[in-house]
Amino acid sequence: MDMDRIDLDSEIGRIGAHIGAQDRRRGLLIPLLHKIQEDYGYLSGEALERLSKKLEMPLSEIYSVASFYHQFYFTPRGRKIVRVCMGTACHVRGAGKLLDNLQQRFNVGIGETTEDMAMTLETVGCVGCCGLAPVITVNEDILGEAGSKNLELLLESIEEDQG
Ligand code: FES
Repeated sequence: MDMDRIDLDSEIGRIGAHIGAQDRRRGLLIPLLHKIQEDYGYLSGEALERLSKKLEMPLSEIYSVASFYHQFYFTPRGRKIVRVCMGTACHVRGAGKLLDNLQQRFNVGIGETTEDMAMTLETVGCVGCCGLAPVITVNEDILGEAGSKNLELLLESIEEDQG
């Protein structure tokens, strides 16, 4: 991965313009972590080491802050993030079976990414569309009645992406 693609100096200047002098490094840290993840999909060790040097902040402190927030990832993630809702309504309407099927079909465990990076499979709590249960989300999209034709089309598109 080419970490030089992110110009940390200009990002620090841009974000820093909105942060007071007090505790400046901490104020910069979270937005920079977001920027790295946005550009690369996860926080690599290489990226965090570079950030540690740039902010003159111990690497252990950066890991500690980043680990506190569930939205940061430390391993590469798939091009499609598929989450099966395991809330009560979805559970009652077959989310568990759907999850099993996805694991078997793509040979991937919960929280894992297929070897070809096509898909990461996760579970999620209620996403607020219980009337459409069972629900899955794919990146930012919500697919209701997950046994539907839309789901099959989606799964086929992931398989095509796998080549
Ligand atoms: S329980 Fe799945 S959307 Fe609410």
